[in-house]
Amino acid sequence: MTLLKEHDLGTPARSSDAVVTIEVDGMPVTVPAGSSVMRAAALAGIDVPKLCATDSLEAFGSCRLCLVEIDGVRGTPASCTTPAAEGMRVSTQTPRLEKLRRGVMELYISDHPLDCLTCAANGDCELQDMAGAVGLRDVRYGYAGDNHLDAAKDETNPYFTFDPAKCIVCSRCVRACEETQGTFALTIEGRGFGSKVSPSGTNFFDSECVSCGACVQVCPTATLEEKSVISLGVPRRSVLTTCAYCGVGCSFKVELRGDEVVRMVPYKDGGANEGHSCVKGRFAWGYATHKDRVLSPMIRESIDQEWREVSWDEAIAYAATRLKAIQERYGVGAIGGITSSRCTDEEVFVVQKMVRAAFGNNNVDTCARVCHSPTGYGLKQTFGTSAGTQDFRSVDQADVIVVIGANPTDAHPVFASRMKRRLRNGAKLVVIDPRRIDLVRTPHVEASYHLQLQPGTNVAVMNAIAHVVVTEGLVDEAYVAERCEDDSFATWAAFVARPENSPEALAPNTGVPAGELRAAARLYAGGPNAAIYYGLGVTEHSQGSTMVMAMANLAMATGNVGREGVGVNPLRGQNNVQGSCDMGSFPHEFPGYRHVSDDGVRAIFEDAWGRALDNEPGLRIPNMFDAAVEGTFRGMFVQGEDVAQSDPNTKHVKAALAALDLLIVQDLFLNETAAFAHVFFPGTSFLEKDGTFINAERRINRVRPVMRPRNGKHEWQIVCELSTALGYAMHYDSTSQIMDEIAGTTPTFSGVSFDLLDKVGSVQWPCNEKAPLGTPVMHIGSFVRGKGHFVETPFVPTEERTNRRFPLILTTGRILSQYNVGAQTRRTENVRWHGEDVLEIHAFDAEERGITDGNWVTVASRVGETSLRARVSDRMPQGVVYTTFHFPESGANVVTTEHSDWATNCPEYKVTAVEVRARTREPLGGAAGADSHEGAATDVLVGR
Ligand code: SF4
Ligand code: SF4
Ligand code: SF4
Ligand code: FES
Repeated sequence: MTLLKEHDLGTPARSSDAVVTIEVDGMPVTVPAGSSVMRAAALAGIDVPKLCATDSLEAFGSCRLCLVEIDGVRGTPASCTTPAAEGMRVSTQTPRLEKLRRGVMELYISDHPLDCLTCAANGDCELQDMAGAVGLRDVRYGYAGDNHLDAAKDETNPYFTFDPAKCIVCSRCVRACEETQGTFALTIEGRGFGSKVSPSGTNFFDSECVSCGACVQVCPTATLEEKSVISLGVPRRSVLTTCAYCGVGCSFKVELRGDEVVRMVPYKDGGANEGHSCVKGRFAWGYATHKDRVLSPMIRESIDQEWREVSWDEAIAYAATRLKAIQERYGVGAIGGITSSRCTDEEVFVVQKMVRAAFGNNNVDTCARVCHSPTGYGLKQTFGTSAGTQDFRSVDQADVIVVIGANPTDAHPVFASRMKRRLRNGAKLVVIDPRRIDLVRTPHVEASYHLQLQPGTNVAVMNAIAHVVVTEGLVDEAYVAERCEDDSFATWAAFVARPENSPEALAPNTGVPAGELRAAARLYAGGPNAAIYYGLGVTEHSQGSTMVMAMANLAMATGNVGREGVGVNPLRGQNNVQGSCDMGSFPHEFPGYRHVSDDGVRAIFEDAWGRALDNEPGLRIPNMFDAAVEGTFRGMFVQGEDVAQSDPNTKHVKAALAALDLLIVQDLFLNETAAFAHVFFPGTSFLEKDGTFINAERRINRVRPVMRPRNGKHEWQIVCELSTALGYAMHYDSTSQIMDEIAGTTPTFSGVSFDLLDKVGSVQWPCNEKAPLGTPVMHIGSFVRGKGHFVETPFVPTEERTNRRFPLILTTGRILSQYNVGAQTRRTENVRWHGEDVLEIHAFDAEERGITDGNWVTVASRVGETSLRARVSDRMPQGVVYTTFHFPESGANVVTTEHSDWATNCPEYKVTAVEVRARTREPLGGAAGADSHEGAATDVLVGR
């Protein structure tokens, strides 16, 4: 159990090597120089009354409640805005101060509704607390004067209300929106008595507000209040856990009343989020109790039959019997499994163990195959380890930030807020993306350069940047000489220096003006601290792995790896995509990225598991689908993934699933994939799970259950029972035992245990004898592989070609309010912001096709077509269209092709040649099938 309310120290921490010692009410206290008197007092255990101050925001000094007396100082300074100075003697409680504070409180209360007993915040209101703290007994001004008590409520936001009658205009909300979130949606309008908080002259829903909840969290009254608190009451207890949406991995307090979740509050000491959140983690948790959840196991003989609810024993026995029958008939390799990046490390670990030890093969893969597998490959080749180099905090030290193929404000919002803060404080920004993402221009942030490249030309752009670095003498020679391989550097440098890799030579492919590219390259190389952050716009290409290596080359050549403020950082998509990869979900690797053919490594697992293990890599997901269509692969266990919606070329995926003799789906909902399943194991939501997630910065966070599994069993228990029924007994008493097994077999995790995580909060792997509290920044001093390895990265255009018939390029991405296939967020009020996928199209391309904003259009590629509404958007360059894939109705993957990364098979979601046609009327049933539209001759290289 976590404390419901964390101690608010009033003003933010200061980091300084210098310290000062002061005396507060006779208590000595030593604090870093620059700390406020208020914070020093709080650290000494003396909370000075306050209203406008809170320790997540810079001091503002408006409420005048925190006055103190300081020996030798005239008047009564505000303790929140007064820095502690060596030798200060401060008094916080004197008759004069008490009188002044009561006077301030009287003014506030005289213009405040006196409905404390029925107010939703009763017991959770700082105004109420402060009235008590200052000893208010009377309000001399009465309540009849001018007031704001009739101000109308704004209930437009689905998750919180704004009741201006209760507002004390402390401005915390406005500052939270600016400082913490970086959206600047709120202002204080008017002056003096007439001043009021306003979502920029409109209501919250129609404003720029992104519903992150930061303002609600800091509001000291019930003015901004969660609707769930209003309807359910103030929570009484809390449990600390981790958000189950994106790879930022925010820590939350789940606050409950009895067994009912009332709200999720971001945790101040959360290593990844430090008290901030986004709309998904903060508010979109209602899916966990949605009526669509399936809670009983179900089976059926064939997919044209109705589902039959059965007991757990029957479902598990049925699945095991059919899996065994397939293996007897078609061989050991005829079955396999897919692990989920939404599940915990422990749940993933047992699935890959079941596949290797009970199925007897290495046919296990994970959805990371379709997102960040090139990251694993590329960073391992160059640096020696398959993960990002930095912690999120490191961005505070960056001078130049390069964002490539990522849209952090939508996909990694809490990290984006941190990044924007750094940019407001002076760091420079380069965005490399075909689309004008929000970061390019957002309040008080403007990219120095937006290299609006043609989709599919990442590698060309990166080679051109490297060309500038090498040919203009911008290489960090000393760093390269000390930290990197001489030979591979020399080969690479000669390669990128070739004239064909110059910005001028590549501009016709990339569409990026050479002058701009040269300037951006100089900015990056000049740092002094330059950091690269990238997303799926890098990896989901036929050259995804090449591009990851190209970025790593550039970072090494400019000396930008191995300290704070630099690095190459994948912004991992799903909550536990890092963990699912770490846990041995790939068909060629055991946990910790060790190859299955390595006899020494295999011996570790054979000893631990008591089974001989296969030394041949198994099938990847696309190979499983191909083999299913061919008839050699017949049974599949899919843990918490909706491959029928998320994987490319839906027609092919569905054909593969339909060809299986047995498909077992473990999920919360009957998703698109379950339509092809014979066994359905109901899964558990994150509120029921007990284990760990690993975020994009390798941070291992605890996931703690707030309720028992609603389906009656934990997912790891189900997998253990299935394995046992298959003849390989697997049993754990608890998930901490699973983590102990991970630690015992995997050197990078050898120091990890639930005890450690409970004690220190979270650690970043490697966590072992050398680094008992983890490793925030990697490759300090030397690379994990020893010397940094450069790889030549020739630009090879994708085989996906535009032509007369498919003249546009479709690229895909995410939006803030929805998540991945939308299974969770579509079952929340988030649909109010984004109720359907739309196609963003440039005005010229739209006009040429007779399309206006809001029209239904058909998008056709060589493999299929779908229908959705058009949004004419100046974010798009001409020739490129964009959509999200959150809704099965529009099924963007009906049109994506099977082109994939040469090294990892990661699908090329980001480049599909399409044509867009206006529809005369709305389609009847969403995605309109998957007809072949083989193009005519005269294909054009993408990027020309
Ligand atoms: S809404 Fe809340 S936080 Fe904002 S000014 Fe009013 S009382 Fe302060
Ligand atoms: S919810 Fe977030 S974005 Fe919206 S007004 Fe509050 S702080 Fe700003
Ligand atoms: S940023 Fe990601 S982890 Fe954090 S609250 Fe939002 S969805 Fe959850
Ligand atoms: S808390 Fe210091 S002036 Fe408001």
